[in-house]
Amino acid sequence: MNRRYRKTIIAGNWKMNKTITETKEYAAEMREILGKPKWCEAVLLVPPVNLQAGVRAFKDVKISIGTENCHYETSGAFTGECSAEMVKEAGAKYVVLGHSERRAYYNETDMDVNKKIHAALRAGLRPILCVGESLEERELGVTMEKITYQLKCALAGVTPEQVRRIVVAYEPIWAIGTGKTATSAQAAEVCGAIRTLIRKTYGARVARSMSILYGGSMNAKNAAELLSNEDIDGGLIGGASLEPKTFLEIINASNQD
Ligand code: 13P
Repeated sequence: MNRRYRKTIIAGNWKMNKTITETKEYAAEMREILGKPKWCEAVLLVPPVNLQAGVRAFKDVKISIGTENCHYETSGAFTGECSAEMVKEAGAKYVVLGHSERRAYYNETDMDVNKKIHAALRAGLRPILCVGESLEERELGVTMEKITYQLKCALAGVTPEQVRRIVVAYEPIWAIGTGKTATSAQAAEVCGAIRTLIRKTYGARVARSMSILYGGSMNAKNAAELLSNEDIDGGLIGGASLEPKTFLEIINASNQD
């Protein structure tokens, strides 16, 4: 983390978990235990159907609300999809784009992710852009090639002003939901390389102010060490965000002095 230049963000990605009732219960528990996060912005990314109820339930809890995907068109014949404008109006501040689960299970391409980034920015959302390599790619030594490719595609046509609204999350696919976290050194190396790439394309100021998160089996035990790296500005947390107490421990890990 480097709190002088950029925001620390602890974001929970609920994936396909929690009903509206469970969302309200979570908020009620958090209201009791959270207080005011000292240094970070805490965020929960919830299924779109939970957005309105979530925004209402977390109104007096210091947690921002976002969602996990959006379509790139404004409206039209896309059964089952939600546009960026729809999730924005339902109360989302952030939207996760390019998550590896969407790339793997719904065939989302890098070009789709690029269109979604533009749609989200147009709608006034803050995209959390996910990039990351598979185990095979890491073992072949092409991690940075993969991440460079993903970033260049996703950010094509995005202006420096717009990039300031984007958060990047480095999520090695092999670390997601596996209990296998990247070592602090591995995560820091890639997050640092992402910042270098942003610097080369958009300049030092934009790179310095960008929040770059790590995601992949981050939990209350490993959070403090990961967050102690200068280039890791927070976390994108799946499983460990589903229980208020565990999520709070990770928020607190970002409050270290
Ligand atoms: P886990 O924390 O469950 O590994 O999930 C990480 C993730 O995919 C967050 O987007």
